[in-house]
Amino acid sequence: MKLWAGRFSKEADKKTNDFNSSISFDSRMYREDIEGSIAHAEMIGECGIIEKSEAEAIIKGLEGILADIDSGALTIDPDAEDIHTFIEGELTKRLGQTGKRLHTARSRNDQVAVDIRLYLKKQIKEIETQVKELISVLCDKAEQYSDTVMPGYTHLQRAQPITFGHHLMAYAEMLLRDIDRLRGAYRHTDAMPLGSGALATTTYPIDRTITARLLGFADICQNSLDGVSDRDFCMELASVLSIIMVHLSRFSEEIIMWCSWEFKFVELDDAFSTGSSIMPQKKNPDIAELVRGKSGRVFGDLMTLLTVMKGIALAYNKDMQEDKEAIFDAVDTVKMCLTAFTPMIDTMKVLPGNMRRAAAKGFINATDCADYLVKKGLPFRDAYKATGTLVALCIEKNTTLEELPIEEYKNVCETFDEGVYEAISLENCVNGRKVLGGPAGENVRAQAKRVKELISE
Ligand code: ARG
Repeated sequence: MKLWAGRFSKEADKKTNDFNSSISFDSRMYREDIEGSIAHAEMIGECGIIEKSEAEAIIKGLEGILADIDSGALTIDPDAEDIHTFIEGELTKRLGQTGKRLHTARSRNDQVAVDIRLYLKKQIKEIETQVKELISVLCDKAEQYSDTVMPGYTHLQRAQPITFGHHLMAYAEMLLRDIDRLRGAYRHTDAMPLGSGALATTTYPIDRTITARLLGFADICQNSLDGVSDRDFCMELASVLSIIMVHLSRFSEEIIMWCSWEFKFVELDDAFSTGSSIMPQKKNPDIAELVRGKSGRVFGDLMTLLTVMKGIALAYNKDMQEDKEAIFDAVDTVKMCLTAFTPMIDTMKVLPGNMRRAAAKGFINATDCADYLVKKGLPFRDAYKATGTLVALCIEKNTTLEELPIEEYKNVCETFDEGVYEAISLENCVNGRKVLGGPAGENVRAQAKRVKELISE
């Protein structure tokens, strides 16, 4: 029997009922739905809209339903229209007439809005914790490999020497911004829509500050039309989650490259790689590939939300029921990705020898070679040209700047002397870059310390 049975003379068509129903995906909000209803019952009791004793009975009834769903004694009916209908129906089954008073001064439109907000507030906190865990693993690893020289790249061409710790801390910085963005999304989620009613509030003398306080909301939605039709917080969270996935996906791409025999900078733990059914030699970075691939889902969820919302007139429209699968999928996906990604990074084996060898071959100290001449008084453009000539010579002779004899240097430019070898040693190149933000070991250690402090605040 539908909630609106009075106005209707026929039951809904069975297949249409399935089409209309949201229970398969909104039942995960049963706890929040009950929390919201308990607060609402308490408020309408306190405001004298229903008898105090009735409010108490309703609250007890709802607590019983929550306990029974938690314990498995009560199963959520898959044929119910939505979680709100199911719980109210169950309450009425248990309390009779009194149960029917719960929905006074409320609509499912403000009810569903409060449910999603309560649910997402918890999820945002959980995701923040997970992001912090990843940052903490990155800081530990960065400290451990703060002096490990590796090639830094531009255009995926070896460019200048950096340290592995410096590279990892770049991701820590991105993730710190993600935390900031999560907090922004949280702030906009933290406003209470209850009392907006269907769209135009109510004539009952409700007190919205009571429900906001009981439910722990920092703000109250200030316009009832906006209160029921605002899903900005879903779009905003999906945007933040999409950016997190961009970061995890870029990181995954690097892990995948680093695992290849061409790089071999890292080796993933067996627990976080897979083999091939046909090629016995294979060890594949499937987890990183899946994370990279799942970014597509989350971007899709964001696109779903934006598209669902962009053309609907105020206030509530049923289109908005489509919000939940999208935002839940984005939340679930990010949580799953972080659950697999963080221990994968934590347990990966770093191969500093291979990084060092790769750094030695790419003329990544050419800038330092030119800077050496500049320090001896040459204009940078002349120094750049001389070094370019030397690099071409090395390539022709299949050697490196470190191994090229001093005579060859002098042939190209008189200003060179033995000091050049010290100036272009990769360790000196890295450690010389100790300005704020640079790759020097001491910088990496200081940065890791700073970030650890930030996330423990
Ligand atoms: N299942 C609905 C949703 O998710 C709940 C709100 C229904 N309100 C309504 N007027 N049909 O949006």
